[in-house]
Amino acid sequence: MSFNTFGRVFRFTTWGESHGPALGAVVDGCPPGLSLSEADIQPFLDARRPGTSRFTTQRQEPDAVRILSGVFEGRTTGTPISLMIENVDQRSKDYSEVAKAYRPGHADYAYDKKYGFRDYRGGGRSSARETAARVAAGAVARLAIPEVTLIAYVAELGGDCIDPARFDAAEIARNPFFCPDPEAAKRWEAKVDAARKAGSSLGAVVECVATGVPAGWGAPLYAKLDSELAAACMSINAVKGVEIGDGFAAARLSGERNADPMRPGANGDPEFLANHAGGIAGGISTGQPVVVRVAFKPTSSILTPVETITRQGDASEIITKGRHDPCVGIRGTPVVEAMVALVLADQKLLHRAQCG
Ligand SMILES: Cc1cc2nc3c(=O)[nH]c(=O)nc-3n(C[C@H](O)[C@H](O)[C@H](O)COP(=O)(O)O)c2cc1C
Repeated sequence: MSFNTFGRVFRFTTWGESHGPALGAVVDGCPPGLSLSEADIQPFLDARRPGTSRFTTQRQEPDAVRILSGVFEGRTTGTPISLMIENVDQRSKDYSEVAKAYRPGHADYAYDKKYGFRDYRGGGRSSARETAARVAAGAVARLAIPEVTLIAYVAELGGDCIDPARFDAAEIARNPFFCPDPEAAKRWEAKVDAARKAGSSLGAVVECVATGVPAGWGAPLYAKLDSELAAACMSINAVKGVEIGDGFAAARLSGERNADPMRPGANGDPEFLANHAGGIAGGISTGQPVVVRVAFKPTSSILTPVETITRQGDASEIITKGRHDPCVGIRGTPVVEAMVALVLADQKLLHRAQCG
């Protein structure tokens, strides 16, 4: 398996498995001279950390990050930055059933078919433990794009949407759902509790908005900013859809309703009257907020029995015990934000390389 690296100039490689001793990331191509310490990374890992509320998995991982290289006297040196997070709360016995039968919706069958052998403890490399490494790398990427402000939140959970009229950014950190609408957050408590009690799970839509992205980042055709963001977000576990701006809804609009009209604005910049395009045209940022929406499927590991087959191909049934997130989109929110930061840092450096 060799596809563990993402990015062109600002590149990162992740390593490690769910039940190994540790996991981490190596960030390469980071500009030198940026002030960096563990304290710049830890808050983002704390936001993704499991076991912080009854609405996420109860696996208790402190997710304390250590910087092993690439920083001298508190500043990045321009050499590879190695980040390590130890796994401390593995329970491999929870996975003895997984060794024998395939969990539908997981990578078990596909990994066995491809590699003929797999680390079944917690899903091994296919486990979303790996996303902790992305969040750590994303925290470094943020330092390379100080002009950009990122905000990610759950916009829909189990089919229940936030009310845009009640959007309050300060609310996102106040509830366990990264929800900007306090009334929706209250409804979601009952929804997630009911799903868990029923041995079921729920999907979610995460929205990420990047403001301060100047016009000009991205490239035409094969490195469109849209396609880079889509690839980055699609690579997150359990993601089944990515939209830029109005996305699929744009296909239902007429041309005039979908237009983002322009007027002369301040300092020679245009004033846009709408942002259906999500801040990207022709694969290149326009200076408007970049808007990405990411669909997470419902957690596959559920206590409701699901029909499956064993490794030998016999009919079976599986109940996935162990500690699981009843809605993976919740903890997926900081991961989406990290992947958007990583793409934007890479695109900033690429733009500088070509256009100065
Ligand atoms: C933050 C996060 C946490 C996750 N936790 C779980 C979990 O507890 N149980 C589970 O079945 N899937 C979980 N997933 C999703 C699985 O890792 C994923 O569905 C599985 O590896 C198969 O990959 P795919 O859904 O991308 O095809 C999580 C995903 C994310 C992003």
